[in-house]
Amino acid sequence: MRITMIGSGYVGLVSGACFADFGHDVVCVDKDSRKIDALLNGDIPIFEPGLDHLVASNVKAGRLSFTTDLAESVASADAVFIAVGTPSRRGDGHADLSYVHAAAAEIAGAIKKFTVIVDKSTVPVGTGDEVERIIRETNPDADFAVVSNPEFLREGAAIDDFKRPDRIVIGGDDPRALEVMRQVYRPLYLNKSPIMEMSRRGAELTKYAANAFLAVKITFINEIADLCEKVGADVQEVARGIGLDNRIGSKFLHAGPGYGGSCFPKDTLALLKTSQDYDAPQRIVEAVVAVNDNRKRAMGRKVITAMGGSVRGKTIAVLGLTFKPNTDDMRDSPAIAVIQTLQDAGATVQAYDPEGTEQSKLVLPDITYCTNAYEAMEGAAGLVIVTEWDAFRALDLERVKSLLSEPVLVDLRNIYPRDMVEQAGLRYTAVGR
Ligand SMILES: NC(=O)c1ccc[n+]([C@@H]2O[C@H](COP(=O)([O-])OP(=O)(O)OC[C@H]3O[C@@H](n4cnc5c(N)ncnc54)[C@H](O)[C@@H]3O)[C@@H](O)[C@H]2O)c1
Repeated sequence: MRITMIGSGYVGLVSGACFADFGHDVVCVDKDSRKIDALLNGDIPIFEPGLDHLVASNVKAGRLSFTTDLAESVASADAVFIAVGTPSRRGDGHADLSYVHAAAAEIAGAIKKFTVIVDKSTVPVGTGDEVERIIRETNPDADFAVVSNPEFLREGAAIDDFKRPDRIVIGGDDPRALEVMRQVYRPLYLNKSPIMEMSRRGAELTKYAANAFLAVKITFINEIADLCEKVGADVQEVARGIGLDNRIGSKFLHAGPGYGGSCFPKDTLALLKTSQDYDAPQRIVEAVVAVNDNRKRAMGRKVITAMGGSVRGKTIAVLGLTFKPNTDDMRDSPAIAVIQTLQDAGATVQAYDPEGTEQSKLVLPDITYCTNAYEAMEGAAGLVIVTEWDAFRALDLERVKSLLSEPVLVDLRNIYPRDMVEQAGLRYTAVGR
């Protein structure tokens, strides 16, 4: 199959490289010429484990290429994937579909034969209809069909998720388009990944329902963690106690500073907007969004409390800035609100993140960036772990104690046993324990 991927970000680049690895002929397009130049030079513009090798080997094999010229690659493609961003629209929280609509209009003019337009971006119900309308209006003679194929990969484990997905969801009813999609995903039959065909609207909603449900799970255990702190229980025991029940499942039951990242915050908000438009309130998701919003700054206040009630004039060391480990993605990272709360209260912040420094500088310009964990603690009063990178799981706690002027460790990811930290002479604050 000849595949064109419009948008070469976290989803487009990973999907494109994986499709090429399956043997398809893939062109990744992006309008950001710096991104394409980097890729043409053999550099990967994002951090995703394993992606550099996957891209390099498929470029070498001649199955993967990069361009800013959308028209040429669309003309010969069997399937054109739209994998552009759908951020929250400023002001109202609706999904901003301007990039999707612009891509549709550009694709329309370049269609030369029957082409399947595949929406891989996360888009509200009905966007497929709109994409179809835009293409039809721009190029009335175009022979095409629009299908929805939402992506469920997780940053940090994206390649494995893409190659071994729990399921593949394809929404559409055009028989020719469905046949192309089966060919595109045929290599995954070997891994026995179930392919679910459904209506286009069903597929669009499935993605939002999945993300909203996961956000509910995280937020649920976070509130249980707050209760654990009040009643003297340990949320990790409670989470394991409920998670071993197969009906509940143990994943996404780790109490922490609240969900962030490039998907959950914007997708829960967009689902609420859709629910308002269709007059079908989603009260549970409304509560989740409100609780999670409040939680991030509450975690900043938790640090202030652990530091004795004031951080004015103090330096706080922060480990981990990205919204989760193994990515450089800072979008809506809880670290942003935690750090801003500390700064608002008069603290100075020294931070270290293994991969996120460059992206972090764009959103948090007023902190000191360090090149390793211990450097961030030099001259600091207390330490906060915000993101659970592996590199922070086995810190030399004696050394940590010797570097901090007030030996306080706030562990917002519950990665340390309390005994171990206290034996090293540090005061320990965790979440829900
Ligand atoms: N990041 C994730 O983990 C993830 C997971 C599942 C689904 N998604 C969804 O996938 C979509 C893409 O997310 P992302 O994280 O890859 O975004 P991203 O911002 O990393 O990448 C989007 C890319 O599209 C490019 N672009 C925008 N308009 C274009 C156009 N007209 N022509 C060519 N390129 C264009 C941008 O320059 C950018 O490089 C979003 O809808 C997101 O919700 C993301």
